[in-house]
Amino acid sequence: MDGGKLYVTPHPKSTHRITLMSGSDALFPTIGILGGGQLGRMTALAAIRMGMHVRTLSPSPSGPVAPLGEAIIGDWTNEKVMKDFLEGCDVVTVESEWAPADVAERVSNGSVPVWPSATTLKLIRHKGIQKDTLQSAGIPLGDYRACITLEDAVQALSAFGGKAVAKKFEGSYDGYGNATVTSEEELKQAWKELSASDGLLMEAFVPFVRELAVIVARSPSGQTAVYPVVETEQKDHRCHAVIAPARIRTETADLARDAALAAAEAVKAVGILGVELFELSDGTILLNELAPRPHNTGHYSIEGCHASQFENHARSILDLPLGNPDLRVPVAVMINVLGHRAGPVQTDGFSDALSIDNASVHLYGKLEARPKRKMGHVTVTGDDIDTLRRRAERSADAIML
Ligand SMILES: Nc1ncnc2c1ncn2[C@@H]1O[C@H](COP(=O)(O)OP(=O)(O)OP(=O)(O)O)[C@@H](O)[C@H]1O
Ligand SMILES: [Mg+2]
Repeated sequence: MDGGKLYVTPHPKSTHRITLMSGSDALFPTIGILGGGQLGRMTALAAIRMGMHVRTLSPSPSGPVAPLGEAIIGDWTNEKVMKDFLEGCDVVTVESEWAPADVAERVSNGSVPVWPSATTLKLIRHKGIQKDTLQSAGIPLGDYRACITLEDAVQALSAFGGKAVAKKFEGSYDGYGNATVTSEEELKQAWKELSASDGLLMEAFVPFVRELAVIVARSPSGQTAVYPVVETEQKDHRCHAVIAPARIRTETADLARDAALAAAEAVKAVGILGVELFELSDGTILLNELAPRPHNTGHYSIEGCHASQFENHARSILDLPLGNPDLRVPVAVMINVLGHRAGPVQTDGFSDALSIDNASVHLYGKLEARPKRKMGHVTVTGDDIDTLRRRAERSADAIML
């Protein structure tokens, strides 16, 4: 509850039974996850805790999911590989918008549900299509233009007052694929690096006072759970810190949650949807972008909320009743642990990190470190933001992977 408003809607079926699609004799369902990274790992951990089974499929060996359930390695664009994988799955999900949900849907031909659907992924993958979909749904966005030629982009830069963010339409993540441009020179450079055959996306630079995020869980039968609004801080366009709840007015929190829920409906999201927003100085919000999967800004929910985003991801794709997304602590602070060097992972600083009061240290089991690669995170919960922040930063800083 937040300001008296309920943020988890009741499940439509009061006496819910799980129907196992696979015909397997397992008592509890098997979730198939396309992907082998940390999001799959944390979803699997939550699912296994509830008695479910997990199979993962990824194109190359993966440290994060290797110890969990059945970790299958294979060419996931190959229909035979996909068919073998789907056997025994009761539902399939993705941990990345780039995973081949379309192949899974085609091969399964309706026998195993795939959530989020390939249609939802298509609406989100291409940033131009995503913006148009959100705009049509009446969700507040900053000015943007899909620019097919450099001349279009030059015009957009001038229309946006000389400061814009140029973005690749597809394939960007963690700030790779974006450039802030303030001159024609910079724009030409960005065009060279980022444009594809259909050009690139130009966005007016938003003079935000804070970045916010909201996680939404939505099930196939339409049940929704909306998490608290959090503050996010990026370093080099990359998520560094998350503070829950955001230090914002109730009206702003309501606007953010309403926009997030409307976005989930607009793209017919099923499972977790991560929604990134900007807060403006007058307390209004603009939506930045969506991610159709558990999201870095929701990792705090493992310790911070009654049901984490990963638990609700598993529940929602199986159309089970959703868990309570509310905070169960006054404050949670999460700091990402990034790689410091290239090479095999080492354990330097691990015990120092664990020695910090109340630090919950999560390492993703990646075998190779790279500078700035997401290797883990630390969450600290309690009462006082500044104390928690210091502890979380110190613990995360100690880990030298
Ligand atoms: N229009 C904008 N105005 C101002 N800053 C922006 C704008 N768009 C993006 N940014 C900044 O760049 C960051 C990364 O942008 P965006 O979220 O579009 O990138 P991404 O690489 O697709 O996403 P992610 O880092 O979430 O994987 C944002 O969090 C924000 O700090
Ligand atoms: Mg982003």
